[in-house]
Amino acid sequence: MSNEDDGWGALGGGGDSTVDPATLLDRRPIPQPEPVDRHGPARIIAMANQKGGVGKTTTTINLGAALAEYGRKVLMVDFDPQGALSVGFGVNPHDLEISVYNLLMQEEVTIHEVIHKTNIDGLHLLPANIDLSAAEIQLVNEVAREMTLARCLRPVLKDYDYVLIDCQPSLGLLTINALTAAHSVLVPLECEFFSLRGVALLLDTVDKVRERLNFDLELEGILATMYDSRTTHCRQVLQRVVEAFGDKVYQTVITKTVKFPESTVAGAPITTLDPASAGARNYRQLAREVIAASAERR
Ligand SMILES: Nc1ncnc2c1ncn2[C@@H]1O[C@H](COP(=O)(O)OP(=O)(O)OP(=O)(O)O)[C@@H](O)[C@H]1O
Ligand SMILES: [Mg+2]
Repeated sequence: MSNEDDGWGALGGGGDSTVDPATLLDRRPIPQPEPVDRHGPARIIAMANQKGGVGKTTTTINLGAALAEYGRKVLMVDFDPQGALSVGFGVNPHDLEISVYNLLMQEEVTIHEVIHKTNIDGLHLLPANIDLSAAEIQLVNEVAREMTLARCLRPVLKDYDYVLIDCQPSLGLLTINALTAAHSVLVPLECEFFSLRGVALLLDTVDKVRERLNFDLELEGILATMYDSRTTHCRQVLQRVVEAFGDKVYQTVITKTVKFPESTVAGAPITTLDPASAGARNYRQLAREVIAASAERR
């Protein structure tokens, strides 16, 4: 796929819209996670897509909450100056005295001072606000500027099973820091016409970071979000995504539902706000897939 391509032409054909591609994704049973009595070392997963509004923050919140439900210890990193992840847990970004910005820029600030406990057991947050946008500029002059987040996270990796980094919609220095710190990248893709546009550029960036900064960086998976099985269009997009990325696409597909915007307003994950909803079930299944992949790696 070339960078200019929207991914549509390159993937060829018109697709058979009579097949529901969601059924293509039912490949194998997803095991129930084993309980854990010890934690760490953490697997660091960056949620990245430079396209805005595809579900990066929603996935960080709800995958984080679902992993915590399965007894995993999770640290979520708000790495977007908009602070949407922080707002998603009822934190007012304007009221923050200390945030991920201070952690990155001030040597004397420890990560323990910045970690915020959410009201879900085992789910912690490094909050952010608009200050973080200054870090993008100030980091340029630092030694090993791409490694700053990785260095900051190191002291707590032994305490967590997962660190989820919510990236901003850009491929700038903050996102490069996230990709440098991460073991893998999870790419949420909205099920709409232009979703594949720009994914080639994202994957090129992942390749460059792997070659130059982080040799072991992997693609964790591609997550189809905002899926509405009633529309032919959504089904076609999902089919294209499966054709393009094969078994890198999660079997779990996140349903489109107004419950997600509502849960943001309520400042809580859908898994606690509406535990029996389709959205909550989707993210629990995704958590089981993520845990199963970790178990296979061992
Ligand atoms: N499955 C879904 N169904 C319906 N709405 C959703 C779904 N997932 C996310 N949304 C809504 O879509 C909007 C964008 O989602 P989100 O903020 O998670 O995307 P993002 O990729 O983090 O955006 P940005 O690039 O701006 O950071 C939000 O209002 C969110 O509540
Ligand atoms: Mg976001």
